[in-house]
Amino acid sequence: MIKTIGACKSSLARATREIRSFKTFAFAAVSDFQSTASIAPSSRHLACAMLEGLPIASARTVVELGAGTGAITRVLLEKLPRHATLLAFEINPELVNCMKESFSDPRLVLLNTGAENLGHELRRRGYRRVDAVVSSLSLRFMPDDRQRILLETLDPFMDERSVFTQYQYVYGLRFENGKAQRHSSLPFLSQYFDSIQCRTIWRNLPPARVFTCLRKVHQSRRLPVVADRNPRKRGSLAREHA
Ligand SMILES: C[S@@+](CC[C@H](N)C(=O)[O-])C[C@H]1O[C@@H](n2cnc3c(N)ncnc32)[C@H](O)[C@@H]1O
Repeated sequence: MIKTIGACKSSLARATREIRSFKTFAFAAVSDFQSTASIAPSSRHLACAMLEGLPIASARTVVELGAGTGAITRVLLEKLPRHATLLAFEINPELVNCMKESFSDPRLVLLNTGAENLGHELRRRGYRRVDAVVSSLSLRFMPDDRQRILLETLDPFMDERSVFTQYQYVYGLRFENGKAQRHSSLPFLSQYFDSIQCRTIWRNLPPARVFTCLRKVHQSRRLPVVADRNPRKRGSLAREHA
């Protein structure tokens, strides 16, 4: 009887937390869709697929880009070892507050700053390499030179054993020259990684493709980073898309 009451209480707490996450996420999406880039947090199926192929069991340092309300963070914390650190970047302060209320795990370092500040944030904490980078950033809303700058910023922290995962929505469109076109991040990611595994996760709203990327491509094979003439503004990479 006591066990049943306990189970009911924890199910109720989980349901309340999920409703609050959905509401906060939906509000963020309505306020700034370019940054949030989705209508709902990722499903557990997508979160688990994002972590497949990552060296999670032995990981010491993992970076999450665009943590949102913590759909992937939660699964990461379930799987990471006790001594690991998860540095989660999230630009939206409302979503960061929602995460602060939901997580009290000492392994989680929640950073209310843009992914573009990753180099500075890792260096000032003394991190030289990361085991994995789990990115939910919307590459399709990010101009190509911004995407390159992001991967160049990550580069010094990733070695041959580090893994990068990214998802994109299956039916994602990108507006170019006034026209909507189907967008795939695969050609861009192939410039940076030797091996990319893709799979489609239908049990997510909307369905998504997960890219698990391994082994860095040699520097000389990369396309050059286009120099940014304007000083970098504060704010989201996505938001800077015209
Ligand atoms: C598609 S949502 C994913 C949220 C969550 N990871 C999930 O899977 O449910 C993308 C998230 O990235 C955040 N974001 C957008 N631009 C960012 C940036 N430059 N740096 C950090 N976070 C950013 C948004 O606020 C949003 O929460």
